Amino acid sequence: MKKIRVDASVKYDVLIGKGLLEKSGDFISGITEPCSAVIITDDIVSPLYADKVKKSLEKSGFECDFFVIPNGESSKSLENFEKALELLAEKKLTSSDIIVALGGGVPGDLAGFAAASYLRGIRFVQIPTTFLAAVDSSVGGKTAVNLKAGKNLAGAFHQPSLVICDTDAFLSLPKDVFADGVAETVKYGVLTDSALFDKMGTDFSEDIEEIVARCVQIKAEIVEADEFDKGKRMLLNFGHTIGHAVEKCSEFKITHGHAVAMGMAAAAFAAEKEGISEKGTADKIADTLLKCGLPIASPFKAEELAAAALSDKKRRGDTITFVMPQRIGKCLLKKVSVCDIEKIISEGIEGADMYKAQKTFGQR
Ligand code: GLY
Repeated sequence: MKKIRVDASVKYDVLIGKGLLEKSGDFISGITEPCSAVIITDDIVSPLYADKVKKSLEKSGFECDFFVIPNGESSKSLENFEKALELLAEKKLTSSDIIVALGGGVPGDLAGFAAASYLRGIRFVQIPTTFLAAVDSSVGGKTAVNLKAGKNLAGAFHQPSLVICDTDAFLSLPKDVFADGVAETVKYGVLTDSALFDKMGTDFSEDIEEIVARCVQIKAEIVEADEFDKGKRMLLNFGHTIGHAVEKCSEFKITHGHAVAMGMAAAAFAAEKEGISEKGTADKIADTLLKCGLPIASPFKAEELAAAALSDKKRRGDTITFVMPQRIGKCLLKKVSVCDIEKIISEGIEGADMYKAQKTFGQR
């Protein structure tokens, strides 16, 4: 098992390894006396893992209740947030009790926001069961629900007290869901670690524990430097400005990691066109994404994506900050004025389209 310490406003460990779900009660006993625990999960994860976690918690003296939401992004709603809070109140949870988030980013973000709000904040434990949640949303304390106007528009920074990541849970993931996490892992490679990036184009199944630990380490360092997303943490948005626009234009039919893959390819080709990146960087990123079975070409036009990006929460006044790669392992933040957004997106998606076409016809 690997242990990464996150030294944010709350200090906590991220435990990564095989067979950890069965021991979750032991690990949680390390941060609190036995108490009441409400486990927030979804209806796909619940039949697979809820019983294992409950048995382990009960063995360690915890009393468990469940709040189960339907699987999918639409469950990250104000309606479910309210229902979760009402359940916590009905079960008479106090500030010495805990919430446990079990599943992917949707139960994780919802449970985190409920924990941030109930009694003005109680402790919560993240137990991510998807590769994507393991390398990204379970660490760093961003919690939220979606509003009609967009994704993650209501939320809070609230760090978990512990993260338990059982890599065996990834074995039950459909290929596409696993690939969502691969996209975020490629992101960390492009941001700071060329060795991690190189590994992503190969068969890395034997190294999954090490890869999750490396991603968590990179994220921990960024969160420790800028917990509240005022500067360096914005680097974690590489591929996300266009990615979120793709998700929105597809009405969330294109999943987060797939949309971020398209967004990273577009940002990389735009960086090349703008003279920001070393020659060949965008090709390397596009090639690795394709090798990982991820898409690079956006099904939407620059105009549609620009309109969606302009309504994103990442917009600050008259600019949007894009993350652009200079080379593999180094990116910079570039403020783009709202009048230039469509041009940048257009350069990016045209570059990605051309790369894909040339690859298809064997010209690359
Ligand atoms: N998922 C990006 C962040 O945590 O800042």
